[in-house]
Amino acid sequence: MSVLAIDAGTAGVTAVVVSVQGTIVAKGYQEFSQHFPQSGWVEHSPEEIWQATLEATREVLTKVDASELTAIGITNQRETIVLWDRETLGSPRRAIVWQDRRTADICTRLRDEGHEDRVSELTGLRLDPYFSATKLMWLAEHEPNTWALVESGRYAVGTVDSYLIARMTRGTWHVTDVSNASRTLLFDLEAGDWSDELCSLFGVPRDALPDLVPSWGEIATCEPATFLGLALPIAGIAGDQQSALFGQTCFDEGDSKCTYGTGSFILTNTGSSVVRSEAGLLNTAAWRSPDGTLTYATEGAIFVTGAAVQWLRDGLQIVGSAAETDAIASTVPDTNGVVFVPALTGLGAPHWDPHARGLIIGITRGTTRAHIVRATLEAIAFEVRDVLATMPSIATLRVDGGAAANDLLCQLQADQVGLPVERPEIVETTALGAAFLAGLGTGTWDSTDALRETWSLEKRFEPAAERKSADLDYARWQDAVERSKGWAG
Ligand code: G3P
Repeated sequence: MSVLAIDAGTAGVTAVVVSVQGTIVAKGYQEFSQHFPQSGWVEHSPEEIWQATLEATREVLTKVDASELTAIGITNQRETIVLWDRETLGSPRRAIVWQDRRTADICTRLRDEGHEDRVSELTGLRLDPYFSATKLMWLAEHEPNTWALVESGRYAVGTVDSYLIARMTRGTWHVTDVSNASRTLLFDLEAGDWSDELCSLFGVPRDALPDLVPSWGEIATCEPATFLGLALPIAGIAGDQQSALFGQTCFDEGDSKCTYGTGSFILTNTGSSVVRSEAGLLNTAAWRSPDGTLTYATEGAIFVTGAAVQWLRDGLQIVGSAAETDAIASTVPDTNGVVFVPALTGLGAPHWDPHARGLIIGITRGTTRAHIVRATLEAIAFEVRDVLATMPSIATLRVDGGAAANDLLCQLQADQVGLPVERPEIVETTALGAAFLAGLGTGTWDSTDALRETWSLEKRFEPAAERKSADLDYARWQDAVERSKGWAG
């Protein structure tokens, strides 16, 4: 008995099979293209996401006995908005990705019209291009012919989870869960439902949106002819960051985790309450159980961390793979004064400046690629420190995600935040969380306590006793961040 989890992330799709013991027994991965049609714009082809899902799943199925699989869990990059034809399942245009900054002016306009406070009160979010609704407004304003077919009901609207479920069920299901819905700016966080007021403010027909289902339980059934012969129940859905919170077994109020992915996201479980922050943190739905209980989280969302490493690889081409960065950065004792602010798609928490842009400062003739690579890892640690400084203090920082495998990063992180950093055995926590949800929904595990027993620590990084040099580096970072702000405004 095992569970298949599909993690449709920003850079690619991972498929894993998770055993009853909570171990990952097989994995498949397929990257897909990133499109940057204009400065600050980021798009994905929905068809390519679907093909990558098929490919990653096909790969994992070659390594396991498919008849052992009992359920599928889906987790996904959040906020990214997809349109598809309800009949053909084809998409009329590319998806507009969460990192896309094209709606900065729409956000300013809505702010000038005085909507910010009410939007934040209802959603726990803020008026920033990050979230889905202004992306839909942009489509209505710039692509009216496409939008007319959303209004007529021919095109469905959804986040990547909804799109994949539509594809896997041949269009039978158009659903999402609260963790994804709560990232759209169209969801009333405390009511736990789509908001007519917000749909009308952003001009989105409520009928175009998916139905809300619990985060686990039998949600839909795959159509085998469409999805690699698998006739399995889809029994878990969560946005990737909430899924990682679940995968790290952060089930209790006050539990938190930091996931290093394309961006990095620090979430703290706040139980049944929405705990508002004045310091740039978001409120979000973590999950909703089949009995209707809603669990909330606060979130510090950092847009570019792993994506900065990806840029070193694909843009600058100074590293061959993300895995190399640890060794390259370790060849130098420090960055030799170089600071890299990776505001490549603006700045998220706690700065929230869509007009900020990346900056590398302090370069001299002595600067080498190792200094730039080290400055990139340091930047990730600084960004996380920026966010933790706005949160109630925690005793240890639990990390996961691809870059958590990087020992140097974990050590820099511990030194910067002055806390022990704990890395679990399994750092693919996003996919693990989706498997946990699906397995909880179909009886592989009978309780969250059973899931908790599967968590185990792999390594703990203690912070350097001496704080002064970390603080000096951090002060220089803060100076550089200020310089990066407003550049594209
Ligand atoms: O909110 C964006 C987030 O869901 C993206 O996650 O893992 O693709 O960086 P990731």
